[in-house]
Amino acid sequence: MPTQSLFNPPMTATTNQPVEKSRSHRVKVEDKQIINCQSDVNQLVPFKYKWAWEKYLSACANHWMPQEINMSRDIALWKDPNGLTDDERHIIKRNLGFFTTADSLAANNIVLGTYRHITNPECRQYLLRQAFEEAIHTHAYQYIVESLGLDEGEIFNSYHEITSIRDKDEFLLPFIDTLTNPHFTTGTSDNDQKLLKSLIVFACIMEGLFFYVGFAQILALGRRNKMTGAAEQYQYILRDESMHCNFGIDLINQIKLENPRLWTPAFKEEIKNLFQQGVDLEYRYAEDTMPRGVIGLNAPQFKEYLRYIANRRAQQIGLDILYPGAQNPFPWMAEMIDFKKEKNFFETRVTEYQTGGALSWE
Ligand SMILES: [Fe+2]
Ligand SMILES: [Fe+2]
Repeated sequence: MPTQSLFNPPMTATTNQPVEKSRSHRVKVEDKQIINCQSDVNQLVPFKYKWAWEKYLSACANHWMPQEINMSRDIALWKDPNGLTDDERHIIKRNLGFFTTADSLAANNIVLGTYRHITNPECRQYLLRQAFEEAIHTHAYQYIVESLGLDEGEIFNSYHEITSIRDKDEFLLPFIDTLTNPHFTTGTSDNDQKLLKSLIVFACIMEGLFFYVGFAQILALGRRNKMTGAAEQYQYILRDESMHCNFGIDLINQIKLENPRLWTPAFKEEIKNLFQQGVDLEYRYAEDTMPRGVIGLNAPQFKEYLRYIANRRAQQIGLDILYPGAQNPFPWMAEMIDFKKEKNFFETRVTEYQTGGALSWE
């Protein structure tokens, strides 16, 4: 039962219904489902999944652009030989080394993979917005690299050349390849499980775990009044990513609800193992980026933090916690995610937003 009917010309553009059959009746709410849907995905309404539409609206209201943030203090600090320690510079370069390609990977995964297999128009509407946000994030990282005058070849090739970064990407690639393979179609339990697994890896382990060491490091620098422009960029990105992760979790839970046969004990065990691999890989990245304690952070704190986050992600998709007793060593990160309550935290913004009323900082 192919779902990627964009690749099946005899069918309608977006369902696997023959053209005449698809046009012969109106879409009803009860016809809609997240995967393997037979109704016309060109019709946004009637809405079935209001959470997806509401997330689309919130994401649009959070619109921002990298060049609206003043980077002059960061540039001066980076150029000052005494402005930052070697360990701080190491963190910044590793961070950009991971993120400059990670968000391109995320965008390609959405556009060339996930989008085709999600057969619901309100969810697709959010995915279109999410794909654009990934482009903004890639732009933000490029903008930081350019502002600081870093070696672009070094930074953009880190995912080939730095083991702790390459290992994270190599963990992700098979799951992305599953969805982007043009011959992959949903409709069997086996393939629907492969889709669900890839969605979990992407939302809960990539966006929900692999980003958090890097976010915490740059935001910790910002809290010490260092690299405040970069920190503000990261704060916007963190807010977006937190919504990507939440959307992914809603999507996963809805697929589970509609297809309970997929959620077998063996499948849950497989997911648990993937979470553990993810925590190990991200911890190795923490050790590589912080060979010594720096800016009040050290690698062992991140072991606890990653276990705490992994527990939360596992619970959010209905699994038992993986690391009993793990506590959050960085409670201030919660404020960073929900930063509408903060008023101009790093005091770096110089331009007024012309779009997106929700960014008024009031
Ligand atoms: Fe992103
Ligand atoms: Fe994302």
